[in-house]
Amino acid sequence: MSATSTITVGDAQVELPIKTGTIGPDVIDIGQLYAKTGKFTFDPGFTSTASCESKITYIDGDAGVLLYRGYPIDQIAENGDFLETCYLMLFGELPTPAQKADFDYRVTRHTMVHDQMNRFFQGFRRDAHPMAIMVACVGALSAFYHDSTDISDDKQRMIASLRMIAKMPTLAAMAYKYSIGQPFVYPKNDLDYTSNFLRMCFAVPCEEFKVNPIFARALDRIFILHADHEQNASTSTVRLAGSSGANPFACVAAGIACLWGPAHGGANEAALKMLEEIGHPENVAKYVAKAKDKNDPFRLMGFGHRVYKNYDPRARIMQKTTHEVLGQLGIKDDPLLEVAVQLEKIALEDDYFIEKKLYPNIDFYSGITLKAMGFPTSMFTVLFALARTTGWIAQWAEMIEDPSQKIGRPRQLYIGPDKREYVPLDQRA
Ligand code: SDX
Repeated sequence: MSATSTITVGDAQVELPIKTGTIGPDVIDIGQLYAKTGKFTFDPGFTSTASCESKITYIDGDAGVLLYRGYPIDQIAENGDFLETCYLMLFGELPTPAQKADFDYRVTRHTMVHDQMNRFFQGFRRDAHPMAIMVACVGALSAFYHDSTDISDDKQRMIASLRMIAKMPTLAAMAYKYSIGQPFVYPKNDLDYTSNFLRMCFAVPCEEFKVNPIFARALDRIFILHADHEQNASTSTVRLAGSSGANPFACVAAGIACLWGPAHGGANEAALKMLEEIGHPENVAKYVAKAKDKNDPFRLMGFGHRVYKNYDPRARIMQKTTHEVLGQLGIKDDPLLEVAVQLEKIALEDDYFIEKKLYPNIDFYSGITLKAMGFPTSMFTVLFALARTTGWIAQWAEMIEDPSQKIGRPRQLYIGPDKREYVPLDQRA
């Protein structure tokens, strides 16, 4: 007999099934609530709502735990590489050496984009935000790859997934090169995924380019940290778009658009701009006061999280990576890092942040590292989208393969005008 929850709605007592997962909170299945009571639940922002069953990522916000297919994020980030994480996301298990070699080979040979994609870029201003370019170009991929848009065909779903993961770095690098007026650099098959991306971003035709192994390792780890994060806003967007049967390229384009927001993936760009605005550790107290002031809309970007009410485990690894990269670059007194360290110290000792359980999230430190590697702030969210594509694609595929999935269509609490008669124009005052 499965567990149930009984709720009283008016004079009716309604029994609703309780579902239990592997770990984490149980859920009350309210699928029949409206049929049994004529009432909806109401949960703007979905603070208490589970939208699906998933086997991919688990987060415990109070314990600061993040698992990818059961493996702790720190163990994956320390020991694996990003394409291994992509394989784990897509197939559910860590690859054997042979599987890893085959997967790397297959992804590597999909890194080129159709040459006509180049013409899309000519339509953009040079100062277009690269996230605007990514939304457009990723959506446009479906115009080139008709042979992998039939979502009912598992072979086409897999080829589309590999193409998406493989082509994001190429499009991201093209967006960067276009913004600085430099020629596009084609991928090289003898480089690993992240080294290939760094070369496409920073190489120029006039001279040989040597990938900095410190940057490659650090950026690969940053990609791992950003790969997936349960049912966050952009992943939920991808799932909702996919539930209508839209092709995977269009769904990922929708995810990129959602991620762009400063409350979500745009926070890394916003956090670095905030650190630059604060400018010096002695100004930190003033900005902390602004963040606490109810009448001031200012928020500490890179702080707080809907789920993590303890330290974001990714932020801890990100902080370590930041210190490693700056240390290996011989950057001892980076002013932004000094401001970040002082801001974190003051905020974590302040009652406002303690009682609201606001800790640094992954976006707090990532910008400092990316800036040290030479990326402009406008590219920070593009890098987040590049990494999160593997999570979006894995979650999209899981949804498509879920026999219980149906088009997502929430209801509402209507608070507009009651029924009223139309007034012809010549009778209105
Ligand atoms: C990401 O969902 C994911 O998993 C996202 C992500 C992923 O990997 O996909 O982890 C990536 O998006 C990380 C979050 C990046 N965003 C930021 O750093 C932007 C700044 N942070 C916030 O805007 C905020 O913390 C959110 C959006 C992240 C979370 O917002 P919630 O859970 O809806 O919480 P809330 O806005 O209701 O805030 C609760 C209280 C409020 O005060 P009260 O109204 O209760 O008095 O905390 C305050 C807020 O004013 N608060 C902050 C704050 N964040 C929340 N006050 C100052 N500075 C902040 N950063």
